[in-house]
Amino acid sequence: MHDAANKPAGVHVSEHPLVATKLSILRAKTTAPDEFRRAVEEITVLLFTEASQCWSTAPIEVETPLASCPGAVLQRAVAAVPILRAGLGMLDGILRVAPEANVGHIGIYRDEETLRPVSYFSRLPVNLASSETLLLDPMLATGHSACEAVAILKAAGADRIQLLCLVACDAGIAQLDSQHGDVPIFTAAIDPELNDRGYIVPGLGDAGDRLFGTG
Ligand code: URA
Repeated sequence: MHDAANKPAGVHVSEHPLVATKLSILRAKTTAPDEFRRAVEEITVLLFTEASQCWSTAPIEVETPLASCPGAVLQRAVAAVPILRAGLGMLDGILRVAPEANVGHIGIYRDEETLRPVSYFSRLPVNLASSETLLLDPMLATGHSACEAVAILKAAGADRIQLLCLVACDAGIAQLDSQHGDVPIFTAAIDPELNDRGYIVPGLGDAGDRLFGTG
């Protein structure tokens, strides 16, 4: 859908066929909220698998019923931080695979006139400085909310942050890259346009409304 050749180095667009098929379910305007929520959860698991591929493990010794053998544990704690409200839809996918994750919440809404982010809530795990921190927001549109959220996470001590989203666009990627070039982006797609209301086109519509059956 998009020539990803010129994307910044920290942008990872999944090429997994299951990601592509689940994204098609999300894009279809006929997909009902229950199916939409399920597909968001499943696609998040797949994107999480790709994002966590670079995480470090420490060796341990494991006793199987038959013998001992080498095993592994994650070296750092896991923190998942959805941006309210649409990011909540991705949380279950993370917790399915990393149930031990600590969960923070950041509340940001977009002023519909200025399209600027307004932060109204933040409650974060205390150990972000020693955690792998996953910031969850389905749509990287203007990038302003993601930038604000990353600034909040960094101020709270997070130094290893990855953004997981479902659909990104060039404007959002450029905005995040210009302010937080150290934050890798994992996405299912990069779409060509951002319309004058700040929606990604073709995108999937308002992710929060589609998740929660509102709007
Ligand atoms: N937020 C959404 O939910 N959808 C978009 O397309 C952009 C921002």
